[in-house]
Amino acid sequence: MLYIGVDLGTSAVKLLLMDGEGKILNVVSKEYPLYFPKPGWSEQKPEDWYEQTFAGLKELLADADKSQVAGISFGGQMHGLVILDKEDQVIRPALLWNDGRTQEESDYLNEVIGKETLSGYTANISFAGFTASKILWVKNKEPENFAKIEKIMLPKDFLAYKLTGVHCTDVSDASGMLLFDVKNRCWSKEMCEICDVKPSQLAAVYESYEKVGVLLPEIADELGLPHSVVVAAGAGDNAAAAVGTGTVGDNMCNISLGTSGTIFISSHKFGVDKFNALHSFAHADGHYHLMGCMLSAASCNKWWMDDILKTKDYAAEQAAIEKLGDNHVYFLPYLMGERSPHNNPDARGTFIGMTMDTTREDMTQAVLEGVAFALRDSLEVAKSLGINLERTKICGGGAKSPLWKKIIANVLNLKVDVIESEEGPGLGGAMLAAVACGEYASVEEIAGKLVKVVDTIEPDPALVAKYEARYAQFKEIYPACKPLYDIIAK
Ligand code: XUL
Repeated sequence: MLYIGVDLGTSAVKLLLMDGEGKILNVVSKEYPLYFPKPGWSEQKPEDWYEQTFAGLKELLADADKSQVAGISFGGQMHGLVILDKEDQVIRPALLWNDGRTQEESDYLNEVIGKETLSGYTANISFAGFTASKILWVKNKEPENFAKIEKIMLPKDFLAYKLTGVHCTDVSDASGMLLFDVKNRCWSKEMCEICDVKPSQLAAVYESYEKVGVLLPEIADELGLPHSVVVAAGAGDNAAAAVGTGTVGDNMCNISLGTSGTIFISSHKFGVDKFNALHSFAHADGHYHLMGCMLSAASCNKWWMDDILKTKDYAAEQAAIEKLGDNHVYFLPYLMGERSPHNNPDARGTFIGMTMDTTREDMTQAVLEGVAFALRDSLEVAKSLGINLERTKICGGGAKSPLWKKIIANVLNLKVDVIESEEGPGLGGAMLAAVACGEYASVEEIAGKLVKVVDTIEPDPALVAKYEARYAQFKEIYPACKPLYDIIAK
């Protein structure tokens, strides 16, 4: 049988067709615009997501035996607020995961309701990117829109709704709303009251690998697919990527170098970081995970290459880099503010340490290293909780770069296992569909059978020592700059 995975990303939707043995038969990518209406704001139109997904499905299936397609599922950008009125029309563009406008509402939740209370109800505190503060922002700043809300949903769930007519979500994505009791895998009544959300506005919650319905007949007909095609709930993109890289079960790690950068640690047991610097979320395998999320990762390199150096040849720029570990330039990758661990939407991208002999290569290297150092910040929080990791998987667009993988291995002092395919969330989505269709008994079983490590990058002790010293310096820069970010934000 064949399975479709849909990775609803921030720059594009990527669709993937997989057979029951995990062979990827086709991949299609379709872009859509991202709007920054004001500094720190970030929006997309849900209608664009659906239009491009539908066009992508047609392209993906053009040469496939459509009668063999059994299931479809998703990995979707998390936290985004999609609101529909009673006619099922989108009320306003979605506020995305990297939108920093809701600081006031987020501060209200953390300071007035209180972090301890929030953590007790949901296992997490508020971050400007999480959905709850977005709902409060609409309530406070756009009351006419708030009054129209009939349904609240997350980005990938909008796709599932259009395809099946079922208002659903899954446990991993729901975890990032701050309305969800992560430990008990259900909506938190108390948080809904705090955010003025009615239970009828929220979706039915499923495990990621559960069937939520089948394609609406008119959609199946237009795509030339059987009416029996199963739609599975899917997962937030990080949990889906973890499935796609085999990061399931206990104490496994995956790093995703996409628009955002995440470090994802799977766990059989529910646990909360006592500082709430790491998110404590439900995993798509039926268990839990901790996660640190930086808001700009591969997007820093894209910005530096496309917008500043004005080149598309990333590989040529990286080939000129020779002195790993010896750079005197630092880059703080906070182009959209930062989530983990600083929780500061006002933080800004910063270069520091240039001298008259600084070269273009030094600056490019600093960007790649800055992202690795910022991931290390989250790893340090995990270590402080007694989590010991020896190795990690890696996925996302940035994972295509051998140099960046080497920098990550040495800055984090972790063995980096490279998987056959770096299509993390799309592959994870297709795998979840295969479990929902019964081809595999569990997420752990399919991951164990299909995910293959094809290479491992070992840290080099001499380089690790150099990066250790540089990380000690990197750590000092954010606290020193923070008062300046506060001034610049005013
Ligand atoms: C995770 C997060 C990002 C988005 C990116 O908490 O905000 O990784 O899911 O798509």
